[in-house]
Amino acid sequence: MDYGYVNPWIEDIESYIPGQTIEGCIKLASNENSYGPSPRVLKAIAQASSSLNRYPYKDDAVREKTAQYCNVKRDNIILGNGSDELIDLVVKTFKGAILSVYPTFATYRISSQISNREYIEVRLNPDLSFPLEEFISNSRKADILFVCSPNNPTGMVLPEKGLREILDEGKITVIDEAYFEFYGKTAVKLLDDYDNLIVLRTFAKAFALAGLRMGYIVANPTITGLLYKVKPPFNVNSLAQEAALAALDDTQYMKSTVNKIVEDREFIYNKISEMFKAFKSHANFILVDTTPLSSDEFYGRLLEKKIIVRNLKRFTGFRGEYCRISIGTTGENRKLIKAVSELC
Ligand SMILES: Cc1ncc(COP(=O)(O)O)c(C=O)c1O
Repeated sequence: MDYGYVNPWIEDIESYIPGQTIEGCIKLASNENSYGPSPRVLKAIAQASSSLNRYPYKDDAVREKTAQYCNVKRDNIILGNGSDELIDLVVKTFKGAILSVYPTFATYRISSQISNREYIEVRLNPDLSFPLEEFISNSRKADILFVCSPNNPTGMVLPEKGLREILDEGKITVIDEAYFEFYGKTAVKLLDDYDNLIVLRTFAKAFALAGLRMGYIVANPTITGLLYKVKPPFNVNSLAQEAALAALDDTQYMKSTVNKIVEDREFIYNKISEMFKAFKSHANFILVDTTPLSSDEFYGRLLEKKIIVRNLKRFTGFRGEYCRISIGTTGENRKLIKAVSELC
């Protein structure tokens, strides 16, 4: 139907497709943390439910604690309703064309399209590693660069030397570290050298707060100040604020789940590699080329066994078909390995 008053560029946007959730199934489709958050978080949320009539007011307290976690100052932090919202804020705040790679996290493209901005994609190398030279030469045509490291969906990283080469181009550069805790290396320290750097993080993955929507940016105060002008007031709800404060009070808990996930990731990588081509990952998921099975068959047969993975199908311009599997609890992972070995 033609309404006649829709922004013309909106109609062509391919919406984000989230991982499927079916009650009673093991969900390994959205890179969540199956262990759940610290028990302290659950207690804090229960206590906070008596103040739901008040607007959220702990933005500064969360920024302060997040700053301590990142070893920066409060002014370096801005919070978002998920890091998704912060991607949108960056696109709204800074002008010009946007550059990223393909395949990567789809929200960079979708946010750019919503704002009717040119979005340039450089294909990853055939082995899915980062095409540094081509990215840098294309960066001259763009004003905002998105680099996801570890990259979703490959799990591969771009080491510091490459990040510095990109930052040397002087463009607004977002390094998306959604999976930082599973990798352990960060670009935050590069803020001392680069005022064009924006580091994007989330509480959705390692801290297991995907359902509450809480992300943050670490950048210099000029950048966070500009983003504050664009940020909707009260974008982060009061339960998410309480949850983040409690989660940051118990980083030990988060680290203990991350350690188990990283250990199991290596185990799953080795096991799946005996059957399919798997990609070595620095995040909490593993990309698998499902050949000789189609990704539909791989996905469908696991679903019959009540395990949901992410069916990514084909990447345009690449060989193979792909599913992405999040690392679950050790119990879930055992069931996954058993189910995958029955596919062959
Ligand atoms: C690379 C990357 N960035 C950002 C996000 C969004 O995270 P959030 O839940 O904080 O919006 C995701 C979620 O899957 C992701 O994979």
